[in-house]
Amino acid sequence: MEVPVLDGEQIYLRRLTEDDASEAYVSWMNNPEINQYLESRFYTHTIESTKAFIRSVSNDSNYLFGIFLKDCGKHIGNVKVGGINHYHRYADIGFLIGEKEYWGKGIATEAIKLATSFAFVTLRLHKLWGGLYSPNIGSLRAFQKNGYEQEGVKKSQYLLNGIYYDDIMFGKVNPNE
Ligand SMILES: CC(C)(COP(=O)(O)OP(=O)(O)OC[C@H]1O[C@@H](n2cnc3c(N)ncnc32)[C@H](O)[C@@H]1OP(=O)(O)O)[C@@H](O)C(=O)NCCC(=O)NCCS
Repeated sequence: MEVPVLDGEQIYLRRLTEDDASEAYVSWMNNPEINQYLESRFYTHTIESTKAFIRSVSNDSNYLFGIFLKDCGKHIGNVKVGGINHYHRYADIGFLIGEKEYWGKGIATEAIKLATSFAFVTLRLHKLWGGLYSPNIGSLRAFQKNGYEQEGVKKSQYLLNGIYYDDIMFGKVNPNE
C-alpha cells in the first residue's frame, strides 16, 4: 500500500525508509534520558541496526512513521502503529520524541492523533492500544488527550533503576465502528 504523508499543524508524519537512519536518530535510541521508559534501551543501536529495524517494520503489519517539523523538515521522533493482528484488527501504538528540546510542545499529542486517524480511517483497524511505565506522565497525558482510556494495570511489571513500576495500559476503539 502506498502510505500517504500525514499532515498536521506543527508536524507531518511520513513512513521511514532506511535513508532516515541518521546519526541523530541513532543517538536518541542510545540516550538513557530518552529511552528510560522504552524496552529498546536494552540494546546498543547503530546505523546498521536502525536500518535493519526500519526494514523489519516496512510491511503490511507495521507502519513506522517519522515525526517531521513542518517549518524545517527536521526529523524529531517516531510513532509506530504495529504488530497488527489482521484477524482482530488491533495494533499497538508507540512513540518517542527524540529531540528533547521539543518535549512539552504538544508534539506527541499531535503525532498520536495523526497515527490514530491513519489506523482507524485508512487501515480500518478496530482498536489501538499502548502501554507505559507509570511515571511517564507525558505519555499518559498524550494518550488521554487523544481519547484513549486506561484499561488496566500490570502491577510491578517493569524494573528501572532498582524500582519496579506498574505498566499502565491504554486503549481506544475505532469510534467509526
Ligand atoms: C513522553 C513523551 C512522548 C511526551 O511527548 P511530548 O511531545 O512532550 O508530549 P506533549 O507535549 O504532547 O504533552 C502531552 C501532555 O503531557 C504533559 N507532559 C509532557 N511531558 C510531561 C512530563 N515530563 N511530566 C508531566 N507532564 C508532561 C504536557 O504538559 C501535556 O499536558 P497538558 O496539555 O495537559 O499540559 C516524550 O517526552 C518522549 O518521547 N519521551 C521519551 C520516550 C517515551 O517515553 N516514549 C513514550 C513511551 S510510552
